[in-house]
Amino acid sequence: MITLSNRFSKNYKFALCEKMRETGNNHKRRPLAETTKPANHVYFFDTTLRDGEQSPGCSMTTQEKLTMAHALEDLGVDIVEAGFAMASEGDFAAIATITQAIHKPRIASLARAKKEDIEMAARALQFADRARIHVFLASSDLHLEYKLKISRAEALDLTGESVRLACSLVDDVEFSPEDATRSERNFLVEMVRIAIEAGATTINMPDTVGYTTPEEYGQMFREVRERVPAIDAQGIILSSHCHDDLGLAVANSLAAIQNGARQVECTINGIGERAGNAALEEIAATLYVRGDRFGVTTGINLNQLYPASQVLGQLITFRPSPNKAIVGDNAFAHESGIHQHGMLANPLCYEIMTPALVGVAHNHLVLGKHSGRAALRNRFEQLGYTLTRDELQHTYYRFVALADRKKNIYDYDLVGILPDQIREKRREPVSELD
Ligand code: KIV
Ligand code: ZN
Repeated sequence: MITLSNRFSKNYKFALCEKMRETGNNHKRRPLAETTKPANHVYFFDTTLRDGEQSPGCSMTTQEKLTMAHALEDLGVDIVEAGFAMASEGDFAAIATITQAIHKPRIASLARAKKEDIEMAARALQFADRARIHVFLASSDLHLEYKLKISRAEALDLTGESVRLACSLVDDVEFSPEDATRSERNFLVEMVRIAIEAGATTINMPDTVGYTTPEEYGQMFREVRERVPAIDAQGIILSSHCHDDLGLAVANSLAAIQNGARQVECTINGIGERAGNAALEEIAATLYVRGDRFGVTTGINLNQLYPASQVLGQLITFRPSPNKAIVGDNAFAHESGIHQHGMLANPLCYEIMTPALVGVAHNHLVLGKHSGRAALRNRFEQLGYTLTRDELQHTYYRFVALADRKKNIYDYDLVGILPDQIREKRREPVSELD
């Protein structure tokens, strides 16, 4: 593991400088699209360990980040943004540690458009099999005037200089005009053009404050692509990065994909600044279940979505809400009698994907006051009791009375309402008990 003290050690720095001198500016620009994947492939850039981790209740130790990085590798994400090297010694250590243990995804560090940030990112990434520096600089007048206090011309100069410096240190550089969705369009286009000329091969256009709408965000991708011919000519990857302040992060990300984005930045369980980032599991499941609308491929192993969500839930201070799509406890639970009946007849009646698809072991018919006889009979069957019509009817009345008093009905409650003679007739259960 990289320790905090060697982050700034002279030997460490000298070794890096040597390596940089040897390789100099010879890094070949290698846009992701030109590697092995077809043009309709969407790359998943996971920022759980950076944008996610920097939100309240989500901070992780290096060891915890490593645990999560393994889960992300199993999930099949293409790029892991492991941290922001300049932000803290902990971030630096986590990035460096992850580069030595995780080999399938490319590892990225965030950097402001500053020499010291970019050099620190390169240092943290020096042992990565495949590294990326992700440089960002605000493009909205609001941010330039109030936050950075620089002019548009200065921002354009900084864009070119910082991307060129990053390209001299690693062979894969991403540039993000921060607050892209609130930026004046001509200026945004100019900044993107300069970043590409300077060597960036991925251009990420973030909806930093979760302000945009699907139609508007999609239009921005279309326009930038049309006005910067180098994007298609050089196989530059356009990327979405959405925050969820209006609850539109996933919808906006999908709109970007429909308008040419081939990288999507997202987090497990949608954690992130304020209302969070776009939820990886929702995007991945939508691209699969509604493949008829999107026609893209991904490298995501869908059956690892739920396991990855569970790993994260154990590392941070909160879990997804029970009704969270794909990974919430109730995402595959059916309580109402009509739904339970339909589910038992044919799961397609009420399920658009199987729980197994996303790695959930089984669906859950939650027994409560809305449940019907079919679900009750099914649960008794699973518990090893076969009921006649009359026995079911009798037991059902007792069940309804109990469900009126008790919010959750557990298996032992069910066994408790059975008449003695039925309880004695128990055979081996047909499935594993909860
Ligand atoms: O939301 C944002 O704009 C970001 C950038 C640093 C990419 O997280
Ligand atoms: Zn963000």
